[in-house]
Amino acid sequence: MTLNPLAFPLSKGHAMPTENRDDTLAASQAQGGASSLASVIPTGPGNAMSSDFKIRARDVNVFYGDKQALFDVSLDVPAKSVTAFIGPSGCGKSTFLRCINRMNDTIPSARVTGSIEIDGNDVNAKSVDPVVLRSRVGMVFQKPNPFPKTIFENVAYGPRIHGLATSKAELEAIVEASLKKAGLWAEVSDRLHQAGTGLSGGQQQRLVIARAIAVSPEVILMDEPCSALDPIATARIEELIDDLRNQFCIVIVTHSMAQAARVSQKTAFFHLGKLVESGPTEEMFTNPRDTRTQDYITGRFG
Ligand SMILES: Nc1ncnc2c1ncn2[C@@H]1O[C@H](COP(=O)(O)OP(=O)(O)OP(=O)(O)O)[C@@H](O)[C@H]1O
Ligand SMILES: [Mg+2]
Repeated sequence: MTLNPLAFPLSKGHAMPTENRDDTLAASQAQGGASSLASVIPTGPGNAMSSDFKIRARDVNVFYGDKQALFDVSLDVPAKSVTAFIGPSGCGKSTFLRCINRMNDTIPSARVTGSIEIDGNDVNAKSVDPVVLRSRVGMVFQKPNPFPKTIFENVAYGPRIHGLATSKAELEAIVEASLKKAGLWAEVSDRLHQAGTGLSGGQQQRLVIARAIAVSPEVILMDEPCSALDPIATARIEELIDDLRNQFCIVIVTHSMAQAARVSQKTAFFHLGKLVESGPTEEMFTNPRDTRTQDYITGRFG
């Protein structure tokens, strides 16, 4: 087992600036620096690394108390690509997304079985620090949730606490690069020291994405990132997702078939806690194999 030594302080109850400890903050904090998930997740026997798939889920079941929310979900998520999760409300999209960075650990009634590997490494292994995992697997939520801090500090927070920058100039460079990657720099470069919460909803969502990017994650999970945004802000986020897929493995949950078709290369359709089918997005939308998929994408239910 190899753990990123820089990650150890994170498991010792690191003080957080807001009480919203368990969502994007956890997702965007911690570091990894030059490390990769391979250095924070132990490699199990026979876990050959696949160059094509970043995430491999096998027979994942999730229970909330006695109620089963996911049934034997097995799915491969390609690297450097966008995968969309679609399906009617309550079918388990968010539940499955939360398995990938162990956010379900934060729900006391939740129990997860089955395996999820990232680069061949089991995310549920006892030795994996979920906080470190969440820095490697960032998360963006439906409602943008910047910290009550300046724009600069929102982005600088993760890199600073984990020593990703050795000087003020280096930290500034990371903030600038992250804001540029998130397509926000031009709009905020002259007001970096104003509150992040003062931005528009679409800008806040890009700020949260910049914050996630600043710690160089490998995977970015997005749970309906555009559902609170107007069409113009949505288009900007979609363009951004398209740009980011060259560098990251992205998973997006969406209720918009059009959005799934526009931004993703692979689509997975969930229904009543089961993964009904998955495949190349174009095929899923033009030639679904299962009638439930067909009915959903043509608007017959959901
Ligand atoms: N914290 C929780 N405690 C108990 N049950 C939960 C919890 N979160 C989700 N569930 C249940 O698990 C099932 C799947 O929920 P989930 O939120 O994953 O669905 P979803 O596909 O993301 O839905 P939506 O499109 O409405 O966001 C639902 O029956 C839901 O009620
Ligand atoms: Mg959901």
